[in-house]
Amino acid sequence: MADAEPALSCYGLHKSFGGVQAVRGATFSIPAGHICALIGPNGAGKSTAVNLMCGELRADRGQVRLDGTDISGWPTDRTARAGLIRTYQLSREFGRLTVLENLMVAPLNPAGESLLNIFFRPGRVRAAERRNLDRALHTLSAFGLYELRDSYARELSGGQKRLLELARSVMAGPRVLLLDEPMAGINPALIDKIGEHILGLRDDGVTVLMVEHNLAVVERICDHVIVMAEGATLATGRMSELRADPAVIRAYLGGALSDSAAG
Ligand SMILES: Nc1ncnc2c1ncn2[C@@H]1O[C@H](COP(=O)(O)OP(=O)(O)O)[C@@H](O)[C@H]1O
Ligand SMILES: [Mg+2]
Repeated sequence: MADAEPALSCYGLHKSFGGVQAVRGATFSIPAGHICALIGPNGAGKSTAVNLMCGELRADRGQVRLDGTDISGWPTDRTARAGLIRTYQLSREFGRLTVLENLMVAPLNPAGESLLNIFFRPGRVRAAERRNLDRALHTLSAFGLYELRDSYARELSGGQKRLLELARSVMAGPRVLLLDEPMAGINPALIDKIGEHILGLRDDGVTVLMVEHNLAVVERICDHVIVMAEGATLATGRMSELRADPAVIRAYLGGALSDSAAG
């Protein structure tokens, strides 16, 4: 794996919030075509690292590279156009849209976005909308949400909302997908289902970085694991190797590592 070209990498990332050093020296690489997990105790800086990479937050220092291109400081719309997509929990606003509408508003660059096109090329806009609709319906089918297409997103169960978030991000055409706890708070049957979808995305060529607390899930679907503690990268490797790593065990103080071994 070491010789694979990284799809996404960061070097010496730092970010403070007032007096809190949330990320201090995170350095890691995500090999192309893999599902990588980012794990670590609460407050380790995982979410902050994800937000720094996608441009949601600006680093105090350090570098982020996407397919070898320095994207440090790029805003989210630009990183998204470059294929780096982060999922967001559905906001209240999206709860008032139907499942289908949630997917229809997801694409980044429909031809209809340009005013020039709306005035001078209405046919082209309609054709793009038709393609967008076809793609949305196809994506809903793939995620088992087709029957729910006319339901309001706020009516979905927690697990269905997670599936919808994933489907929305797929509409954006990701090359690299960042998932922050995509399975948090959902039942075991849906955890497996979301895991299968993530494996499917990987098989379609999407590189995935997921923050995940459930280490049994990590062991099952992630090829490569990055451990963060106190804002820095502590270790990287396979989950089976990391379970035996004294520094990793110390960071978790035994808790999460031994708890999840059974599940
Ligand atoms: N916007 C913020 N303002 C102030 N402190 C923050 C902010 N975001 C995160 N932190 C702090 O930074 C540290 C790392 O947080 P976070 O990246 O959310 O960790 P994790 O996702 O690993 O649980 C924590 O101490 C957290 O309280
Ligand atoms: Mg977090």
